[in-house]
Amino acid sequence: MNTDKLFETVNLGNLSLKNRTVMAPMTRTFSPENIPTPDVAGYYRRRAEGNVGLIITEGTCINHEGAHGYDRVPNFYGEKALAGWKTVVDEVHAAGGKIVPQLWHVGAVRKPGTGPNKEAPAYSPSGLYKPGAENGVAMSQADIDEVVEAFAQAALDAKNVGFDGIEVHGAHGYLVDQFFWEGTNQRDDKYGGSLEKRCQFAVEIIQAIRQAVGDDFTIILRFSQWKQQDYDARLAHTPAELEKFLTILSDAGVDVFHASTRRFWVPEFEGSDLNLAGWTKKLTNKPVITVGSVGLDTDFIGEGMKDLSGTSNPTGIEGLLERFEKEEFDLVAIGRALLVDPQWVNKIKDNNLDDIQPFNKKALGSLS
Ligand SMILES: Cc1cc2nc3c(=O)[nH]c(=O)nc-3n(C[C@H](O)[C@H](O)[C@H](O)COP(=O)(O)O)c2cc1C
Repeated sequence: MNTDKLFETVNLGNLSLKNRTVMAPMTRTFSPENIPTPDVAGYYRRRAEGNVGLIITEGTCINHEGAHGYDRVPNFYGEKALAGWKTVVDEVHAAGGKIVPQLWHVGAVRKPGTGPNKEAPAYSPSGLYKPGAENGVAMSQADIDEVVEAFAQAALDAKNVGFDGIEVHGAHGYLVDQFFWEGTNQRDDKYGGSLEKRCQFAVEIIQAIRQAVGDDFTIILRFSQWKQQDYDARLAHTPAELEKFLTILSDAGVDVFHASTRRFWVPEFEGSDLNLAGWTKKLTNKPVITVGSVGLDTDFIGEGMKDLSGTSNPTGIEGLLERFEKEEFDLVAIGRALLVDPQWVNKIKDNNLDDIQPFNKKALGSLS
C-alpha cells in the first residue's frame, strides 16, 4: 500500500496541514454540565500525537436555548466552557496538531428536557422533525437572527480561543440541514421554496461568520444528502442541482466543503464513479473532505449513538488511496477507526494493519 499521497501537506486558505487525514466530528457526551474537561483535552491531544492532520471536534452547541439535543454535550459559549476549550486547543497545538470546533444547533432533533435549557422547545424552519412528524416551533425572523448571530459569535470565540478555523454542522438532518431539506422546510418566506431560498439561512450564517472572523480564518461546511430522519433523502438529485447548491454556499464564503457520506466508495450520480466529495471538488474547485467507513468493514448508521451495535473490523484503505491518486478529493475524515485507535494514522503509514483495533460499542464507553 503506497500511502504517500495521504501524507502530502496541504493548505486550506491560511491553514497549513501536515497531511490529508482529518478526525471526523464525533459526539462523545463526556462533558458534565456541558463543560469540556481535562479528559476531553487529553483525548484530542492523543489524536494530535497520533499524527492526525486536522481534528474536527465533536459537535459543540452555540449559544441559543434550543441548540442542545443531548446531555453532556459541550457548550461553545460561557467562560467555563471556553476555558475548557482553550485547554483542548493548547494541548493539541503542543502536540503539533491543528483543530477546529464543529458548531452545532440540533433544531427539531431536540427533545425538551435535555441539555442545559431543559424547558426550551425545539426550533426548526417549519416545526417539523421530518415530513408528517411535528416537533417544536417554527422559527420567527427574530429566532433566525438570533441563531445566525450565535453562530457568528461562536466562530469569533473560536478564533479568540486559538482554534485554527471552524466547521458549521450543516449535515445529517440538524438545524441548518432542516432548512436545506424540502422535507422539513415548508416556509414560504425568503428561507423556503426554491433550493436557493432553502440555502438562505446557511448563507446568512456563513456571511455573518466571515464578517466576524475576517478573511484569514478557515470556514468549513459539513453537508450531506442523507438525513438521520431518512437515509434516502437527497438535497441534490442531479449534478446541476448540486452545482447550484455548492455555488451559493461557496460564494457566501465557505473555504472547504466536508461532504458527509456513510460509505466513501458509493457513486453519487449515475454514469460516474465520483462520490459526493468527488463531485463537490469537480464543481467548486475548493478543497474537499471525504468521509465514510474508511478502514472499517461495516458502515456508520445514525447519530446520537443509538445504532452503533455490532463490531466493525479493520480493513486496508486501497480503494481510498486509488481515489487520492486521481485527486478526486483533498482530505479524508476518519471517524470510528480513530475513536477506537488514536494511533490509526501512524499504523496506516507503517502498514501495521494487524495492530489496528476493531470498533465496537464498548469503545464509546470511555475517552481512550
Ligand atoms: C459516536 C459518533 C458520534 C458522531 N457525532 C457526530 C457529530 O457530532 N457531528 C457530525 O457531523 N457527525 C457525527 N458523527 C458522524 C461521523 O463524523 C462520521 O461521519 C461517521 O462516523 C462516518 O465515518 P466513519 O465510518 O469513519 O465512522 C458521529 C459518529 C459517531 C460514530
